[in-house]
Amino acid sequence: MNPFVIVIVLLHLSLATTVNFTQVFEWPDGMDYEWPSEESRTNALKDGTFKPEKIAPRFMAVYKTRIFLSLYKFSNIPVTLVSLPTSSASSASPKLTPFPSWNMHGERDCSKIQAARGLEVDSIGRLWVLDSGSENCNAKLWTIDLVNADHTKLIHRFSFRGWVNDLVLDQTPSSGTFAYISREDEQNIVVFSLEGNESRAVETLGVRAYSIALSPKKEPRHLYLSNFESSELYSMSVAALRNGTRTANPKLIGNWTGNHSYRMLMDNQGTIYAALWWINYISSWNTFQQFEEQRFQEDGKLDASWPFTFSLDSMGTFWMTELNETASKPKYRLLKAAVGAKSYMCEPPKTGIRNFDYSALIACLLLGLERRYHPVVNPEDEKIKKFQRAAQRWFRGNGNALSRHLFHRK
Ligand SMILES: *[C@@H]1O[C@H](CO)[C@@H](O)[C@H](O)[C@H]1NC(C)=O
Ligand SMILES: *[C@@H]1O[C@H](CO)[C@@H](O)[C@H](O)[C@H]1NC(C)=O
Ligand SMILES: *[C@@H]1O[C@H](CO)[C@@H](O)[C@H](O)[C@H]1NC(C)=O
Ligand SMILES: *[C@@H]1O[C@H](CO)[C@@H](O)[C@H](O)[C@H]1NC(C)=O
Ligand SMILES: *[C@@H]1O[C@H](CO)[C@@H](O)[C@H](O)[C@H]1NC(C)=O
Ligand SMILES: *[C@@H]1O[C@H](CO)[C@@H](O)[C@H](O)[C@H]1NC(C)=O
Repeated sequence: MNPFVIVIVLLHLSLATTVNFTQVFEWPDGMDYEWPSEESRTNALKDGTFKPEKIAPRFMAVYKTRIFLSLYKFSNIPVTLVSLPTSSASSASPKLTPFPSWNMHGERDCSKIQAARGLEVDSIGRLWVLDSGSENCNAKLWTIDLVNADHTKLIHRFSFRGWVNDLVLDQTPSSGTFAYISREDEQNIVVFSLEGNESRAVETLGVRAYSIALSPKKEPRHLYLSNFESSELYSMSVAALRNGTRTANPKLIGNWTGNHSYRMLMDNQGTIYAALWWINYISSWNTFQQFEEQRFQEDGKLDASWPFTFSLDSMGTFWMTELNETASKPKYRLLKAAVGAKSYMCEPPKTGIRNFDYSALIACLLLGLERRYHPVVNPEDEKIKKFQRAAQRWFRGNGNALSRHLFHRK
């Protein structure tokens, strides 16, 4: 075969960024809890304290064979933190098991879980649960030790009520563990220090962060912030958050297309995944390159304001729930895809070339070959221009590492 054709074929393969998801479970008639008894369910339905169609997953974390979901706190949602298995011998849609137990949930009791939001599993198997509290109870932070019989600890009460959204964890070798927390009603990031058991607000001038993501474990680390009121994406160094600063100046990176982001996640190779209000695809961006969105995954019609929640596990699997609201009843599915990349909590891969972007390398080869053998490609062709831009970007980011890799191997 002509080398030009081979290169084109390779190029097409490497540019196909969407991944194949497989369905793990589906809930065509909506989700439900595992109730202590049929009677308790009937009573809750009767007195209006439970409306099954109000179950709405917001955040997800995965540890080994368990998935944890936080559910939006509506008045008819009695439990906001649940677990389900990652697989099942039965094809029936699994019930959501209140986690760590029914008794740990209570609407009016400040010593119970009231409104779980952001979730994260740390490197030693503790599930961190951000709890928005209630009208009468301050926001708080829990850890649940998944390795030790789900031992549950209320580790911190914040000095404010409500409106917390998401958290990310920054486990440093020398300064301890920090949680960075977004609040949709304030222009600040709350920094919690586990060792100091203290929290403080760091002003983020001009940015009301809603969804946040943390770069992989490699200094300098960055926190990415999506604005609540616009589709703007910002970043800031976490050095300032760790060292006690009171104000920070996040830097504008760009705008997500279509809408604001309600959920972001970063993998251990530096790619950010973002879900946007009302949008039926997940965007991704490799942060080692210029800001440019890719479609990581795309669905048909969903008609949902918050169609996805997702998480990466430590084995390279991307998990997500998808909501389809085109019919009268909310339909949920749990999907998974092997993506190779792990959660940002895992060590980054130890390669000389970060995030090797084959598409751009192949684009270089293509252009070289084309000049040499086949001067038939129109250089004004948009597709060729796109490859060219990608190649230039790639060389800016990886050229030095590539030459080190090729010519100075030890
Ligand atoms: C994805 O699935 C489609 C249809 O099932 C298949 O044709 C394609 O080869 C798959 N792609 C990958 C990368 O596995
Ligand atoms: C941490 O501080 C909170 C108050 O902010 C307190 O309620 C809690 O008991 C403290 N936890 C520990 C382990 O000292
Ligand atoms: C904290 O870090 C920031 C950014 O690195 C720096 O500008 C600031 O001076 C530091 N503050 C203190 C108190 O060390
Ligand atoms: C992002 O969108 C805002 C409007 O919301 C606009 O003012 C700004 O120029 C855009 N910034 C970039 C980098 O595209
Ligand atoms: C963006 O989201 C809002 C709700 O937050 C929705 O009303 C609006 O239609 C969305 N815009 C687009 C372009 O989808
Ligand atoms: C959502 O459900 C409708 C039927 O209610 C179906 O036609 C549509 O294909 C579904 N969307 C997706 C992405 O599966």
